[in-house]
Amino acid sequence: MKFPKNFLWGGATAANQIEGAYLEDGKGLSTADMITLGSRKQKRVISETIDEDKYYYPTHNAIDFYHHYEEDIRLFAEMGFNVYRMSIAWSRIFPNGDDAEPNQKGLAFYDKVIDLCLSYGIKPLITLSHFETPMGLKKYGFWTSKKTIDFFVKYATTVLEHFKGRVNYWLTFNEINVMSTMPWNAGGISLDADQKTKDIAAYNQLIASAKVVKIAHEIDANNKIGAMYCGHFSYANSASPDDVQGNNNFQDKMIYYIDVQSRGYYPNYKLKELERLNINLPKQTGDDEILKAGTVDFISFSYYMTHVCGSKTKGIFKGLNGLETGYENPYLEKSDWGWEIDPKGLRIALNFLYDRYQKPVMVVENGLGAEDNLIKKQGHYTVEDDYRIDYLRKHLLEIEKAINIDGVPVMGYTAWGPIDLVAASTGQMTKRYGFVYVDMDNFGRGTGNRYKKKSFNWYKNVILSNGANLEEDEVRNVLSLKRQNELQGAYVK
Ligand code: BG6
Repeated sequence: MKFPKNFLWGGATAANQIEGAYLEDGKGLSTADMITLGSRKQKRVISETIDEDKYYYPTHNAIDFYHHYEEDIRLFAEMGFNVYRMSIAWSRIFPNGDDAEPNQKGLAFYDKVIDLCLSYGIKPLITLSHFETPMGLKKYGFWTSKKTIDFFVKYATTVLEHFKGRVNYWLTFNEINVMSTMPWNAGGISLDADQKTKDIAAYNQLIASAKVVKIAHEIDANNKIGAMYCGHFSYANSASPDDVQGNNNFQDKMIYYIDVQSRGYYPNYKLKELERLNINLPKQTGDDEILKAGTVDFISFSYYMTHVCGSKTKGIFKGLNGLETGYENPYLEKSDWGWEIDPKGLRIALNFLYDRYQKPVMVVENGLGAEDNLIKKQGHYTVEDDYRIDYLRKHLLEIEKAINIDGVPVMGYTAWGPIDLVAASTGQMTKRYGFVYVDMDNFGRGTGNRYKKKSFNWYKNVILSNGANLEEDEVRNVLSLKRQNELQGAYVK
């Protein structure tokens, strides 16, 4: 059981899902701030204006990382992180998106966070855009406008220059392919937008991404800047060639963004589709060269589940309250939120991405969103989250196989939400991923205190042993996820 010597171990968060302080120190409103609380059954609403009498907006306070970052990063350091994937809120740096000068207080906040990480030996991996676009860009039509490319490039350049020498790992857009499925999150595009609008917005983001990759390399030759794919990996519903073709079509729809970012040009299957649909991309002179000059250094992705698709699968995704897969997979268990758990699929995914692009890959999100029960044990509050340990352990074992059996160069692993945070799809706090529990409910009520879960020490040992302890089957007797869930509720808070 070996992970490479310089393997990056850590966790990943997004500014809007942890920071809170949504208007503090000059921050402007972002698209994330307009989304209300939802649930497993109820879709989140994107409200035109903030109406706090009617709605609760989870990002406004989130877990108040803005004021707790010292405590939270100390906990990450205690687990032994050598990397922390975080995002910068664009609207903290350029509150309206189109401001002439950056907001110094915004930069000062990230100075503190990044310097603290570095003092613990934690390398920051920064996502420049993670599901939030300044609302000030609404008047231009957000990412449908060419102007937004310039505003984004200005923001990214500011940040790349400001953190030069302190940050060397970057991602341009989180899950750029969710423009197809969650366009509001991806770039302020309405959920009802037609495909043309989404293809145009995606084109503008791809141009912006390529420009920023080039600039990042010019600013610092040591910068490594990656693509970030929302891991929509899927199996064909049957061995019927029609189902296999249907499944391929689905995969193409999802992966074309990464083809462009990695290869520097649109793949034929996407160009043909645009032609069939009579969609003209807003191409300007020089764009082809921009795409070619701005190819990424590595491919990162999120991995939570797999899907099953076939010739009749249509409209796989619905709204903001979660993903809906085409067909059930009878071989897999599901999480409380209906996400199919597929550790072996992660090895397949790693091979797929490496075979396709021949670039280093990194798992920058993975984890189990589950309801936790805080209990008091020997005078301390904790959560006995064996189900989470089981999930993570099985996934890490598959990464190890991809590295050692298949020879995939995996750079690192950042578990999603190392501290409980606001869920992107539902806005809930109770969909918890953390190694650290945050005492807060879906409406932000609670002490906000942080408590270490059982998984905290487990992950600490994984990192300490560089994965060697994964083989000790410490959770061999762990009950199946379903049974764990049945037993929940027996604990006293
Ligand atoms: C990814 C996003 O899609 O999935 C994260 O990059 C998100 O922002 C994560 O939080 C998990 O999804 P959810 O809905 O459980 O928060």
